[in-house]
Amino acid sequence: MQRHDYTAANRQAWNEAAPIHAEQNFARLLENFQKPGYSLLDAVETALLHQLDVAGKQVAQLCCNNGRELLSIKNMGAGRCVGFDISDAFIEQGRQLAAAGKIDCTFVATDVYAIPSSYDGSFDLVYITIGALGWLPDLPSFFQLIARLLKPGGHLFIYEMHPILNMFEGTDQADAPPLRHSYFRTEPLIDNDGLDYYGFTPYESAPMYWFPHKMADVISLCLQNSLKLVAFQEYDHDISNVFAHFAQFSIKPPLCYTLLAQKE
Ligand SMILES: C[S@@+](CC[C@H](N)C(=O)[O-])C[C@H]1O[C@@H](n2cnc3c(N)ncnc32)[C@H](O)[C@@H]1O
Repeated sequence: MQRHDYTAANRQAWNEAAPIHAEQNFARLLENFQKPGYSLLDAVETALLHQLDVAGKQVAQLCCNNGRELLSIKNMGAGRCVGFDISDAFIEQGRQLAAAGKIDCTFVATDVYAIPSSYDGSFDLVYITIGALGWLPDLPSFFQLIARLLKPGGHLFIYEMHPILNMFEGTDQADAPPLRHSYFRTEPLIDNDGLDYYGFTPYESAPMYWFPHKMADVISLCLQNSLKLVAFQEYDHDISNVFAHFAQFSIKPPLCYTLLAQKE
């Protein structure tokens, strides 16, 4: 399969997931975003965004889903905010949330690999969170895109699931989950059990392709694209919903990380 075939398959799976997620959370999001200044960002990323001083900054979120995080950043006082996602159904939800809260964010339905060059050099901050990188079959091109989108001196902020989680199956288990996959696996994980990580009801979905990228891949690609590492931290809390059951174990892998890099 070519890169486009993988992203087209994932687009179908995400479009199928949009009404299922909406049933779980959309009414609450619509209500919450009507409250001035509402943010659903957690303490870790809120502190880092304050450190970056987002007020007035031009922000791009790649793989923004329904925009709930980008809308929160806009409510922290950011300037122009643009969210990109391949799922037109989730992008439509983002537009509805923005309209309900009268929040000035732009949402663009596109494969990240097709983001036009007109956006090059226009962002102070590129923001990527919670289960975005694994959908991307070509990480080197994605990091070239990030470097292209940033202004000199602009920041990349990643708040992601830790890649060590690719070694486990993300189902709720009472016992410590067994290791299933090599950390060094490069072939995609293929699944068609759906994406209901809010209600956890499996359904037969379009096949989707998840690409395990190592921590070293992410860090090396920053360095290769003149994105100088500013901060990197690992944490033992779950940000995905899918690995929340790890909280009960005393021996834990890192569950997520933050990475801040600055374009030279
Ligand atoms: C797990 S969601 C991100 C969740 C988001 N951070 C949040 O917490 O709401 C992953 C998103 O990546 C998007 N995506 C997957 N492949 C993509 C691609 N090639 N280009 C753009 N978006 C993509 C999906 O449509 C989906 O909305």
